[in-house]
Amino acid sequence: MNIVLATRNRKKVEEIGRVFKGYKVRFLTLDAFPGCPEVEEDGATFRQNAVKKAVSIAEFTGCLAIADDSGLEVRALRGAPGIFSARYAGEGADDRKNRMKLLRQMRGLEGVDREARFVCCIAIAFPDGRYKTFTGYAKGNIGKKSKGFNGFGYDPVFCPAGYDRTFAQMTASEKDRLSHRGKALKKLYIYLKNQFSIHGRNDLL
Ligand code: IMP
Repeated sequence: MNIVLATRNRKKVEEIGRVFKGYKVRFLTLDAFPGCPEVEEDGATFRQNAVKKAVSIAEFTGCLAIADDSGLEVRALRGAPGIFSARYAGEGADDRKNRMKLLRQMRGLEGVDREARFVCCIAIAFPDGRYKTFTGYAKGNIGKKSKGFNGFGYDPVFCPAGYDRTFAQMTASEKDRLSHRGKALKKLYIYLKNQFSIHGRNDLL
């Protein structure tokens, strides 16, 4: 089965590929569809953004499409950066600038005020316009400085609940087990397994 991934984020593509490794699913990226329009993330929720991206890519490509929208919600910042996580420090800001802004905003906060969660909503859309969504959460705390070099985004400042290491200090498989995206992907995987026959090795992979 071919599924188009509606993302250009290489790290996300790797995470998705790891969960489906060994199954009869072949992921295509947007690079396989020149001229594919950029979809503006102008929804008010992670779910609205994920659905919009998946539905428009499924319509354009005529294939099943998967899109995710994800981000970090900090309790003391009333859910910020939330859907604006990728551009928290401004349009075009890189991961480091976003993290620095977050640490600045949280200066002086202690204990429960450093609690946060990652959210990931994955939408799968069919070429006929039908879609389904799956959401995963990872609860944790924001550290006072960046630690570790793995992963991306806010990983160096996020310690999942019960751990004293950040996602950026974990191996990829440790992060997959605990992460919002790993959890949403597992729900998607169970759905696909029940709907279609994706079990067994695919030599094309
Ligand atoms: P989008 O889902 O591509 O719109 O952007 C989500 C943004 O949220 C990313 O650019 C990161 O800043 C942040 N984010 C989402 N998932 C993760 C994660 O697993 N680790 C670290 N940061 C993340």
